[in-house]
Amino acid sequence: MHDSATHFATPAQASRLTVRRLKIDLGQGFERHWHGGDAFKSQYYNALSMSFPVGEQSFIDSVKDALKLLPETPENACLGDTAARFIGQEATHRHVHALYNAQLEKQGLVNRWQHWAARRIAFGQARGLRPLHWLAITAAYEHCTAVFADGTLRHDDWLAGADPRMQLLWRWHAAEEIEHRAVAFDLYTALGGSHGWRVRWYLYALMVFTLDAGRQTVLNLWRDGTLFKPGTWWSAAGFFLGRQGSLWRCAGPLLGYLRRDFHPDRETHTAPDAQGQALAARWLADNAGSWRAVR
Ligand SMILES: [Fe+2]
Ligand SMILES: [Fe+2]
Repeated sequence: MHDSATHFATPAQASRLTVRRLKIDLGQGFERHWHGGDAFKSQYYNALSMSFPVGEQSFIDSVKDALKLLPETPENACLGDTAARFIGQEATHRHVHALYNAQLEKQGLVNRWQHWAARRIAFGQARGLRPLHWLAITAAYEHCTAVFADGTLRHDDWLAGADPRMQLLWRWHAAEEIEHRAVAFDLYTALGGSHGWRVRWYLYALMVFTLDAGRQTVLNLWRDGTLFKPGTWWSAAGFFLGRQGSLWRCAGPLLGYLRRDFHPDRETHTAPDAQGQALAARWLADNAGSWRAVR
């Protein structure tokens, strides 16, 4: 799996990645339908949260393993530093989502997604999947996450009416996902990862993500007692397929990953101040009182 392309990690990008501690207290819990009283949206976001502790640990592991293969050259030093900060950010996300998920457990929800993911990871390990493949999987999921993160900061309506603490949590996570969206990709490129495998693993990740997110959301709604309420399905249809539905908003950026010249930070079709990195920087500056830099 070899290819060559210019990677975009620059010293400026490395210094921009900050590891932050979010000032949030979830100890008192939150409403079951914290997303403005909407069962579907609450349980869909809850499902995503359930995937993070195992998923993000796998991303961390794949980047750590890939870093061992990166030649120690002055050119790679910056990428190595950025990757270390990526690990710090993902570790913080895992921690906060574990607290979030502990509350979901108290509400009677059952996290099956973590077991599905763990089983797949164990299968890959047993088959001796090489580090560059793991990294391609991480880059793929990072792109899906970054597209969702971009929508979260770009479209206020995605979290309108939600518990302010949950808005803070999801937007903070979104901002950092945008900040570090190119790290796994750049590392993959620097290690000579091919376009063919990048695309194959991406299609795999899209399929697995859609399946897992769907079945975990259905399971959450079932335990919540709202699976068979018409309002639940009405909300789901509006969320994905409405005029401003997330499917229409995300389809283009999701498909963009298939292009040979794709790079996560290349958004030439958008004005600089409307690009994802600008949205993230603005949100982090506007909410500087809600987090503390730890690295
Ligand atoms: Fe994350
Ligand atoms: Fe990430």
